[in-house]
Amino acid sequence: MRSFEYYTPTRVIFGKDAHLQVGTLLKEYGCKKVLIHYGSKSAEASGLLDEVKKSLTDAKVEFVTLGGVVPNPRLSKVREGIDLCRRENVDFLLAVGGGSVIDSCKAIGYGCANPWTDVWNFFLKTETPTACLPVGVILTIAATGSEMSNSSVITNEDGWLKRGCVKTDLCRPRFALLNPQLTCTLPQYQTESGCVDILMHTMERYFVNAETMELTDSISESLMQTVIYNARILMKDPLNYDARAEVMWAGSLSHNGLTGCGTGGGDWACHQLEHELGGMFDVAHGAGLAAIWGSWARYVYQENPERFAQFATNVFDIPCGTDFEKTALAGIEAMEDFFRSVEMPTSIGELGLTLTDAQIQELAFKCSFEDTRTIGTFRRLNRKDMEKIYHSAL
Ligand code: NZQ
Ligand code: ZN
Repeated sequence: MRSFEYYTPTRVIFGKDAHLQVGTLLKEYGCKKVLIHYGSKSAEASGLLDEVKKSLTDAKVEFVTLGGVVPNPRLSKVREGIDLCRRENVDFLLAVGGGSVIDSCKAIGYGCANPWTDVWNFFLKTETPTACLPVGVILTIAATGSEMSNSSVITNEDGWLKRGCVKTDLCRPRFALLNPQLTCTLPQYQTESGCVDILMHTMERYFVNAETMELTDSISESLMQTVIYNARILMKDPLNYDARAEVMWAGSLSHNGLTGCGTGGGDWACHQLEHELGGMFDVAHGAGLAAIWGSWARYVYQENPERFAQFATNVFDIPCGTDFEKTALAGIEAMEDFFRSVEMPTSIGELGLTLTDAQIQELAFKCSFEDTRTIGTFRRLNRKDMEKIYHSAL
């Protein structure tokens, strides 16, 4: 059995009205002045922002605001946030939104706390941050798990490169206020895209070509079944609180390390392939993953058909005989059927993109860091493999 370290320092407060505790909490953490960071319009339109401001005012916590974070959050907004926080002597960052807002907050936190270098160097991985301003989260979309994770993903408009930061525990949020009700205003596409991302965070850790722990496998399989079941409910009944709650908690557990205990870190090739699509074409992250996963799975499953057969049987109740390959392929098909049932794409074309050969080559070139790295562990993929997967996903 593999050794592992599991560290989840984020304090989670879960349930109806959880977000109203934000003022008291920030006071408790000794915050003097907080940046409220948010997205384009949803937090303002729903009245959430006003509730947050009132909670802070009641607790006598000073604040400044910076909105306008877009999906696939931009480096220019991060720089704006760093300048603002320095000018205003901000000592705490509050993300009110989804993965994009949280990641932008984390990057601002790194930028402020490491004035000795440019923040983008942490995303190029040429430097490692030594500190981060504390981050708190009010989550409005269940998807990335960034509310408990150690990573941040930012897009640099100069070259449209989407890159993950050096992973450190410094940026893990101090607290995450998880009120499933706040996700009820999401468009269906974002809800389901979030569900795919949650599934993928567990699948990336599950599809490893090595010995795993029975307990971790069971947690992962159960988590996947829960998300699939509730994602379907939310197609018909988007205001269903219990389904929203199941999905929200699954989102946090899927990316806080739990489903990777004993699996040695995971594969992550689909995430790397998707990040290039997100950087170049601004697609929703979960939808981009759905568009690629089937092509990746068919490209790699023969490395370990038994693992895919276990997935088919334990997640989709597909009987497993002795023909592991057949069962493996049936499991891949079942996951794609699920994606279709929640109106998620199973090809790049269904994302609304028609890619040229030159664009595929550019995607693979960027994803391979200009042909200097491979991705994936289930099967190690080089630039040519990446091109083939993008091609078969068209
Ligand atoms: O900007 P607003 O108006 O708020 O609209 C957002 C946005 O358009 C909307 N939205 C969010 N909450 C809403 C709402 N609309 C109505 N009601 C609500 N309650 O949803 C849209 C998507 O928001 P975004 O934050 O972009 O979504 P998500 O949480 O999926 O974040 C995606 C980003 O996180 C990165 C992705 O690559 C992508 O850039 N990831 C971050 C990870 C991490 N740090 O650990 C891991 C992930 O694998 C992922 O890479
Ligand atoms: Zn993801």
